[in-house]
Amino acid sequence: DQKKYTEQYRPQIHFSLQSGWANDPNGMVYYDGEYHLFFQYNPDTTIWGPMHWGHAISKDLIHWEELPIALYPDSLGWIFSGSAVIDWENTSGLGKNGIPPMVAIFTYHNRELESAGTDKFQYQGIAYSLDKGRTWTKYKNNPVLPNPGIRDFRDPKVSWHPESGKWIMTLAVLDHINFYSSPNLIDWTLESEFGVGIGAHGGVWECPDLFPLQIEGTDETKWVLLVSINPGGPNGGSATQYFIGDFDGHVFEPHGEKTKWLDYGKDNYAGVTWSDIPDEDGRRILIGWMNNWQYANEIPTSGWRGVFTLPRTLELTEIYNDYLMISSPVKEFEKLKSGSKNISGSTISGMQEINMKPQFPMEIDLNFNTENNTAMNFGERFGIILSNKKNESLKIGYDNLNKLFFIDRSNCGWDSPNQEFAGIHNAPYIVSSPSLDLKLIIDESSVELFAVDGLVSMTEQLFTADKFTSVCLFSQKGEVELIGGSISNLSSIW
Ligand code: FRU
Repeated sequence: DQKKYTEQYRPQIHFSLQSGWANDPNGMVYYDGEYHLFFQYNPDTTIWGPMHWGHAISKDLIHWEELPIALYPDSLGWIFSGSAVIDWENTSGLGKNGIPPMVAIFTYHNRELESAGTDKFQYQGIAYSLDKGRTWTKYKNNPVLPNPGIRDFRDPKVSWHPESGKWIMTLAVLDHINFYSSPNLIDWTLESEFGVGIGAHGGVWECPDLFPLQIEGTDETKWVLLVSINPGGPNGGSATQYFIGDFDGHVFEPHGEKTKWLDYGKDNYAGVTWSDIPDEDGRRILIGWMNNWQYANEIPTSGWRGVFTLPRTLELTEIYNDYLMISSPVKEFEKLKSGSKNISGSTISGMQEINMKPQFPMEIDLNFNTENNTAMNFGERFGIILSNKKNESLKIGYDNLNKLFFIDRSNCGWDSPNQEFAGIHNAPYIVSSPSLDLKLIIDESSVELFAVDGLVSMTEQLFTADKFTSVCLFSQKGEVELIGGSISNLSSIW
């Protein structure tokens, strides 16, 4: 049984590993009633090091049980990020007695080759499990995709492409994506390359994902290509950009040139989606690593470093002549809510305390009237402030002057040695709707903001010395009308 976690900063509604170090989520696959979450794992210390695949499972995407290590480093290298699929038709021949193999496709990172000075130290291998991911066997003829002579050659995301009857591998290659195809997960053919001259390029491309998504309210389907990049995110360091386009099994054709970010906060990286979610469910569900390489190895948790975002449902909408992603917490999350209290509508000007004793974790939902947001007396900045007796505070809201959402964690504890943690972080967005909704999910050491029905999301870690004890609404230089809101307690998943 999963034990209760009570250490300082320990998330109560997010999956975090028991001890050691974790980064990227890996190999997420649904099989036989279980959501599998593997992850980059260094069991021995709380900093990045020899990578394994750790393993956790969940029946509802909310409550997790950590299982023994799935993949250990071997003579070919450390086990870097990758994906997993169920090979239903046993195309790989790795199945047995009618049991379809669960196949993990990952990057080997070979330290010896790296220090020997060659560029060919990352290549792709596979492993398979016939017992629901509990035990794994490495394929005997690894690697299945050798390195062509490029230093950064990693993080394969594989999915079945029914139209061409092949597996497609989406691979991050330094500053672009390579697409490969295979009939059997073993023999791979390069189909095309994508990404030079488009998108953000402030850092190396990592952890891609490629999947079709129906445009909300239509029968039309577009392809989404997620690409994590580090550094070069919109608020510094690590972040995930996305492209919307078409994919025919060979080539990805993007729609538009604009760079788009899945999450503007500083702490949602390397997120990819579950494979093999049953058709009758039909959701596209993502989970990200709640951290940023700028300070990941230094965050002040002790005994463990490795937290993941809430699993999120991704949707696609056509708006402003463009395609945009919508993120929202998976619906299973709702069952953690209890004791919801309404906040009644009022006109906010200056600071206004909400009369309640906040209990964390909790969700706050606010709906502001933005019909007159060009009026002279409309507040320049408005939103919510959480504070505590140590004078720490978290400020979140909308800046109507500069047209952006912000999370100000400049006073949320832990002055990181490299100064990249504290600060005000922004998501540019012009609110043109008559009302503006903000959803905040606040755990022991994080906040997730979903605004404009999920068109804007921001995820940030917090390390305050004390719990917040007061909740205020505010409007600076003018007023704003709160239409209404609610605050709900969230029960611990442990
Ligand atoms: C992204 C990443 C991946 C790599 C892994 C190593 O955070 O750098 O590209 O596979 O972490 O742990």
